[in-house]
Amino acid sequence: MPHLFSPFTLKGVTLRNRIAMSPMTMYRSTDGLMNDFHLMLAGSRAAGGFGLVFLEQLAITKDGRTSVGCGGIYDDAQIEGLSRVTRIIKDMGAVPAIQLGHTGRKGSELKPWQGGDQLPPDHPDGWQVVGPSAVPYGGKYKYPVHALARDEIKAIHRAYADAARRAVDAGFEWLEMHFAHGYLGSSFFSPLANKRTDEYGGSIENRVRYHLEALDAVREVWPERFPLTMRLGSDDLNPMGVQFEESIQAVGMMKQHGLDLADLSIGFNTDEMEPKPFADMSFMVERAARLRRELAIPVATSWNLGLPQVADKVIRDDLIDLVMLGRPALSNPHWPVWAARELEHEDPFSLVPEDWAWWLRNFRAHDSCIGWPLPEAPAAVQLKRA
Ligand SMILES: Cc1cc2nc3c(=O)[nH]c(=O)nc-3n(C[C@H](O)[C@H](O)[C@H](O)COP(=O)(O)O)c2cc1C
Repeated sequence: MPHLFSPFTLKGVTLRNRIAMSPMTMYRSTDGLMNDFHLMLAGSRAAGGFGLVFLEQLAITKDGRTSVGCGGIYDDAQIEGLSRVTRIIKDMGAVPAIQLGHTGRKGSELKPWQGGDQLPPDHPDGWQVVGPSAVPYGGKYKYPVHALARDEIKAIHRAYADAARRAVDAGFEWLEMHFAHGYLGSSFFSPLANKRTDEYGGSIENRVRYHLEALDAVREVWPERFPLTMRLGSDDLNPMGVQFEESIQAVGMMKQHGLDLADLSIGFNTDEMEPKPFADMSFMVERAARLRRELAIPVATSWNLGLPQVADKVIRDDLIDLVMLGRPALSNPHWPVWAARELEHEDPFSLVPEDWAWWLRNFRAHDSCIGWPLPEAPAAVQLKRA
């Protein structure tokens, strides 16, 4: 029976365990480039035992970023920085993963800690946002949306292929298309954002055409031996938006177009969601397990899986294949080592690089010497006076 620390093989890639660092936008780039911060972030998580390490969503076009501080893969000049990051991830025993994205009508933003407002197209750090239809999201996303013409959609699909080619050159071995969170793929799928009357709007077959063409474009250049996956906004939690049943149909179609795994998330095409499950433990797992059962496709999901016992159980109960951790991976670079200890793994240090583990095994003396929390903490803090 697989558990959290069982290897996972998909296509020609084997992860050492079922724990992935989920993609997280960091707003730390200039000109879309990776730098020492990204090397530190990804390298430390790979050294901390994560089996799969995602960088943040990387934009396939300059106007596909969230803000001017976000990473991209729209220029060959970005390959070198990305290669440095993938090298350290592999050196530390993990698999480097890329998430390709375009933020669509949710781009042109200030950084969150600067207020996160959307900027107008004529602002030096802003741009004209695009979408399937000229429908702004609302709230802070208040500027007009340019509805993409057919030839502009084709150009975006070519940009996906160019980005995937750069991802191969940069050493990535796992690719996820970002079709969730209200970004461009998500908004083509959602009737809340997509009001088109051509072949990209209306029926479910039409609303998923953007995704199938994007997958086809990437599959042309992305090697067969590497997994091609996507994160879907599988439910808008709104009666007028994407319904989960439609997502099952859509993923079935994507499977026919070479999809190897579905990572399920929420649509985020509106703030009007009911219910809002965001404080509920493992709330996406039930949907992911259903999709896996009905379509016989491997699945991953995130959302509130940061308790080791929960993360382990969703694998042992054969509900999902891969646990994606966002905030827990930010708060604890060694989450997998900690989880291994909590779950009484026979050798938690087998999760860090072997030479590093050697020191911890051989210079251990007592648990307190290596900083392991003790069951009886007060006894350990009685210091002798000189
Ligand atoms: C700071 C931050 C940035 C994020 N950026 C992305 C992103 O670039 N792409 C994406 O698909 N999800 C993004 N997410 C969502 C996470 O990948 C993850 O799905 C979410 O945090 C839920 O998982 P968790 O409960 O383990 O945090 C982000 C989350 C956080 C906290």
